[in-house]
Amino acid sequence: MKIAILPGDGIGTEIVAEAVKVLNALGLRFEMETALVGGAAFDAHGHPLPPATLKLAQEADAILFGAVGDWKYDTLDRQFRPEQAILGLRKNLGLFANFRPAICYEQLVGASSLKPELIAGLDILIIRELTGDIYFGQPRGRRVAPDGNFPGAEEAFDTMRYTRPEIERIAHVAFQAAQKRSKRVTSVDKANVLETFQFWKDVVTEVGKQYPDVALDHMYVDNAAMQLVKAPKKFDVVVTGNMFGDILSDEAAMLTGSIGMLPSASLNASNQGLYEPSHGSAPDIAGKGIANPLATILSAAMMLRFSLGQPQAADRIEAAVKTVLSQGLRTADIYSAGTRRVGTLEMGDAVVRALQT
Ligand code: IPM
Ligand code: MG
Repeated sequence: MKIAILPGDGIGTEIVAEAVKVLNALGLRFEMETALVGGAAFDAHGHPLPPATLKLAQEADAILFGAVGDWKYDTLDRQFRPEQAILGLRKNLGLFANFRPAICYEQLVGASSLKPELIAGLDILIIRELTGDIYFGQPRGRRVAPDGNFPGAEEAFDTMRYTRPEIERIAHVAFQAAQKRSKRVTSVDKANVLETFQFWKDVVTEVGKQYPDVALDHMYVDNAAMQLVKAPKKFDVVVTGNMFGDILSDEAAMLTGSIGMLPSASLNASNQGLYEPSHGSAPDIAGKGIANPLATILSAAMMLRFSLGQPQAADRIEAAVKTVLSQGLRTADIYSAGTRRVGTLEMGDAVVRALQT
């Protein structure tokens, strides 16, 4: 089992180190190789996704990814910005299916900004299409000025675009995921305004006919954003495009108390996957040892389940995370009165201990 370890920027290095510690405590054999990505790779090699990093990722069975980005790169030409690393990995590896579960751990019900009764027991799955839409439209990265800042320009644009096969394959992923859950899919679009999303809605509806056991409904994205805070438990599987999925998955993550808890998986057609926390690089707290490593540790569990064929090891990690939460250990983002505040390292150590007992 070959794993590419790409910690990236900001808190990425700290949280990935804890996930690696947890993987090493499982008693399985992994071949792990680490490489620079994002701003760290730009600083060292002049590119956020150097050829050697891409090659390592392509040859691995799975990729464990931290986070990329820092404000200090905001003035760079877009092709050199850290975010291009993750977009490049998604595109080059064909990682079109992004799973972003939003699960509310019972121990953290109080950490949410929503009323406990709204989110207790919440377990929804956002499936975001990840290699199409306005993120990869044509023309892409068009620049009026070489610094990417459009000085004196009168216009900038990005095109929104989906092809039928792109929509079909993500729809199949969503219906099949729903078959293993409560057999409901909500497809989120903006068909009242955008041609791209009328097409999305039509194609998802067509694919849905092959899954008569799954109930499909459609919702406009603005309404979905509202329903997510009004009655989140009414959702089960949500499938949507790249842009809407980016926004709704942050919103759904926060329902659960902290974005610091949520893992994600991005898979291609051969189940090779990239696993990363749903949160970003948080440069404001980088290096302080206070970031929550649990989303990354839970991403490693998803990796074991989806790409490495080790579902029992995944179960063990998830159980260990529940144990440390029950023990009352909390990083700053999920801290509440009466619990014990710990740092990144201590949290990782506690998960390792829980695994071993
Ligand atoms: C995410 C992030 C990325 C995205 C950025 C870092 C390019 O926000 O994974 O949700 O927009 O997809
Ligand atoms: Mg995002």
